[in-house]
Amino acid sequence: MAERRKRIDLDEGESKRPRTEEPSGGEEQWWEAKTNPYTQRPYSSRYWEIMAKRKTLPVWEAMSDFQRLLEEFQVIILVGETGSGKTTQIPQFVLQMAPDNGIACTQPRRVAAMSVAERVANECDVKLGDEIGFSIRFEDCTSSKTLLRYMTDGMLLREATIDPLLSKYSVIILDEAHERTLSTDILFGLMKELLPKREDLKLVVMSATLDARKFQRYFDNAPLMNIPGRLFPVEIFYTQEPERDYIDAAIRTVLQIHQYEEPGDILLFLTGEEEIETACNRISLEVSTLRSQKKAGPVMCVPLYSTLPPHMQQKIFAPAPAGGRKVVVSTNIAETSITIDGVVYVVDPGFSKQKVFNPRVRVESLLVSPISQASANQRAGRAGRTQAGKCFRMYTEHAFKNDLIPATYPEILRSNLGTVVLQLKKLGIDDLVHFDFMDPPAPETLMRALELLNYLECLDDEGNLTPKGTQMSEFPLDPQLSRMIVVGGQRHSCTNEMCTIAALLSVPPIFVRPRDKAKESKEAKMQFNHQDGDHQTFMNAFNAYITSAGSSDQEKKSWCQYNFLSFRALASAENVRKQLVQLCKRAQIKMVSPKDADPHATEGSYGYGVAVRKAMLDGFFMQVAHKDVRGDYTTCKDNQSVASHPSNWMDGQSEWMIYNEFVLTTRNWVRTCTRVEADWLIDSCPDYWDHADFPEGEIKRALVRLRKRKEDQEKKQAGGKSKPSW
Ligand SMILES: Nc1ncnc2c1ncn2[C@@H]1O[C@H](COP(=O)(O)OP(=O)(O)O)[C@@H](O)[C@H]1O
Ligand SMILES: [Mg+2]
Repeated sequence: MAERRKRIDLDEGESKRPRTEEPSGGEEQWWEAKTNPYTQRPYSSRYWEIMAKRKTLPVWEAMSDFQRLLEEFQVIILVGETGSGKTTQIPQFVLQMAPDNGIACTQPRRVAAMSVAERVANECDVKLGDEIGFSIRFEDCTSSKTLLRYMTDGMLLREATIDPLLSKYSVIILDEAHERTLSTDILFGLMKELLPKREDLKLVVMSATLDARKFQRYFDNAPLMNIPGRLFPVEIFYTQEPERDYIDAAIRTVLQIHQYEEPGDILLFLTGEEEIETACNRISLEVSTLRSQKKAGPVMCVPLYSTLPPHMQQKIFAPAPAGGRKVVVSTNIAETSITIDGVVYVVDPGFSKQKVFNPRVRVESLLVSPISQASANQRAGRAGRTQAGKCFRMYTEHAFKNDLIPATYPEILRSNLGTVVLQLKKLGIDDLVHFDFMDPPAPETLMRALELLNYLECLDDEGNLTPKGTQMSEFPLDPQLSRMIVVGGQRHSCTNEMCTIAALLSVPPIFVRPRDKAKESKEAKMQFNHQDGDHQTFMNAFNAYITSAGSSDQEKKSWCQYNFLSFRALASAENVRKQLVQLCKRAQIKMVSPKDADPHATEGSYGYGVAVRKAMLDGFFMQVAHKDVRGDYTTCKDNQSVASHPSNWMDGQSEWMIYNEFVLTTRNWVRTCTRVEADWLIDSCPDYWDHADFPEGEIKRALVRLRKRKEDQEKKQAGGKSKPSW
């Protein structure tokens, strides 16, 4: 290995090197061909238009160097500025070298996987899903023809649990490596184990210009290829004073840029769907006032976030209106995953939603948090893609230098590792302590994950996968949800209902609440309300959609609109449910419902509700909150003081309830709740509810009482049995 060329820097001696696209011997290069080898048809005019643009991307010049390097080495690290063409072009360069083999290119985000696959299908002039496809959880847009698939890193990880050798692929590209998502980090470790076993397999690790040396060291000094950036200078402006309301400040700044700055599009970073939609509305409204006063030109305001429907995502690439600008309001997706050309101004309030996990109290939550310096610089860079630009930071220079951490911590250090540990176990990796993590998680986090999986009966006391655990790991769900189906559903004869609920918890919110129709939407929701809480309320709405919404998409859409429900979310839940039912079938889990045994049972009847709630508790027994005598809720065992989220319909009425989500904002909330009975707790998981493990307090006292009652009952029953039968 010593004679390897460790680093290839295309910055050096560029003028001396012949450009790739000049063919040496007059033979036709693939990009000059007139006929599409996939369809055998002449290329469309759009193909040639895009091709002209592709040839101007920085990576285009590096094509033959890249291909040569990939021939020679098993692993290469490729680093390049965002927008240089890594994600769209490199997989195609690979495809040219190995036209018949499977290629996977991972993306941390679903939106990126879908949007890039669509772009690349267009670039290749093929239908999406044919030679170029994508695969994300619950949505597979590939076929037997597919050669190159863009997929979320989580999906590749799942594939590895089914086929540990990943034999479908000859080249794996781990993209956006700098994001250090949980799944990508695990894939790094897996690839390191897999590469010596499969010498024909190649790995390309692609990253924005961050941390590249670390990747190189991790992969035994693999060669590093550097795509020279073409970044124009970006002037940075800070606020003089800290801003109290970053959304307000950001919107003001966007409007000022629109009125007073030179032409060029604006990119505003916000943290989530609600903020983004609000900002888009406010900007559009203010601009129309400005326009009526003839103070500014038109604006096209486009949102971008992960749950946006695909046709809306493509809008970010549309050109700005004549004489006006495009304003893209986006989450972190636009930081490195998706490049929008034409942006000259960036407005950066300095926040993003980040996962945080506190193993001590077992709480994982998405929290709006300050970004890192590295993120801030990436964001600023978005303004200098096509010309010199400006970045307006909604915080002070002092805050940038002193309050922001240099780089975001890898997700593995901020996550609940339950799902991942289960996957690793399924992959046969038992020794987690010696698994080669790029940044090893805290031992406590690993311990918590093992403990969780043990309570859920996925792992036995020795940490080995149980048959139930194997079954649960077949489902692409968090282990709580899969236990709800596999254990709860079977124990209480309601696998059917559990699949519906698991599906509904895996899609975006089904209830729509437009700001200007708060009252109407609340009333519409009332008709679905279920006395026991949110889960069954969701299920009522879903069942109504299935039975009453109509048959055509158009009918369904208008039914949903009338009832303030999201058609997209419900359609997606229907699809997810179908897949879960199929997975059950494969695992030989019968689809049953309490209705099968009792023809009089309805969604509203007592016995039905009890079965459904008991089954849910079998999955969520570690997420129970208890109401004390003062009326305040505390989470069981971890003793966190929480409040019932205002969106829960059953507000503060029940003594014990399961919650689906712990939300951290200005205070601790639990969201999506359903009441459960104290009597059921111990049965759901006797080990977990052993009162000896609980801190002193009301909950422990209640458990002691429950246990005693249970024991008395058991004694009585046992006594009854041994009585002579005269
Ligand atoms: N759906 C799309 N429509 C139009 N242009 C796109 C689309 N997707 C990507 N592009 C363009 O392709 C170029 C290369 O982007 P990409 O390959 O994502 O770069 P990188 O991965 O290096 O950040 C960018 O100029 C980007 O704007
Ligand atoms: Mg990219």
